[in-house]
Amino acid sequence: MLRPIEWTGNTQGHLRLLDQTLLPSETRWLEVHDVPTLYEAIQMLRVRGAPAIGVSAAYGVVLGMQAVSTTDAAVWTAELERVTAQLSTARPTAVNLAWACERMLAYGRVIDYLRPADHWLAELLKEAHAIRDEDAAMCRAIGRHGAELLRELNLPAEAGILTHCNAGTLAVSEYGTALAPIYTLQEASQRLMVYADETRPLLQGARLTAWELQQAGVPVTVICDNMAAALLREKKIQAVIVGADRIAANGDAANKIGTYGLAILARYHNVPFYIAAPSSTFDLNLETGAGIPIEQRAPSEITHGFGRQTVPTGVAVWNPAFDVTPAELITAIICERGVIAPINATNIEKLLSK
Ligand code: MRU
Repeated sequence: MLRPIEWTGNTQGHLRLLDQTLLPSETRWLEVHDVPTLYEAIQMLRVRGAPAIGVSAAYGVVLGMQAVSTTDAAVWTAELERVTAQLSTARPTAVNLAWACERMLAYGRVIDYLRPADHWLAELLKEAHAIRDEDAAMCRAIGRHGAELLRELNLPAEAGILTHCNAGTLAVSEYGTALAPIYTLQEASQRLMVYADETRPLLQGARLTAWELQQAGVPVTVICDNMAAALLREKKIQAVIVGADRIAANGDAANKIGTYGLAILARYHNVPFYIAAPSSTFDLNLETGAGIPIEQRAPSEITHGFGRQTVPTGVAVWNPAFDVTPAELITAIICERGVIAPINATNIEKLLSK
């Protein structure tokens, strides 16, 4: 299975990212040797998806610390604070980014500084690898729990699953969150038809979800975002599964703009609406989704998407990258530790403290 994030070499090695802005027409790897390059890659969505930006940032901390040559532990940790603080500001909504930076900093604080200085960086790299490996394992577990949930629906042959944006392999270290149950069922020879919303304005569904499912041999049909209601009315969809960028303590979940509308449609058509996300996507410091920062992106993504002007010059544009789906519209959250349903603060806390 594809891994869109790779570390090559030892402590003086570098990060390789599959440049997602070029897909599906070009498969090019970006060689990342420093923090500014990674920062730009995260902001421009060359690497994107909540877990993927967390994993990349963990490696970015190693890149940032490669240049620091001191044997003074206080100077070194001060630099570590600066690098982690800087990286965590690359994008605001996905909490996995800040989570990974905080974890690298916390680990960096308890390194044995009595050992030689080259050991410090090796320790950071070990932690970044651990974050990547845990992410991959969480995705596999989400796949197992989600597949079980879908089996309980007694789906007809060639059942339809609708997804939005890309919460597959490309959005994580490997395997995906929302697409993980589909890959798990595919491995068990149960084929589903995935309907991928194209996901305006940056087309993560059309460009990325369709690409990776096609690579994996999973049947996929792309629809424009405004076709979802008609598709549901035609009863072609048995479940909706999407990822999340941040889930508040009460279960309100931020995900790619358009997710909220999809959840309303699913409720109206009596179709289950699932969020699939690892525990690193929960932000229990926020009581509700009202506190989730929503990234506003450049108007040019709408006015000049993919090289052609499609909005008259001077017309105002609103371009939030995410919206928040209220917990009451979510049938269940599929996490690596199990399935949360019904969604409420008590059930979330119970599962996360497992
Ligand atoms: O702006 P993006 O492409 O980073 O948005 C990504 C999403 O909204 C994903 O659905 C979310 O990060 C979950 S990824 C497993």
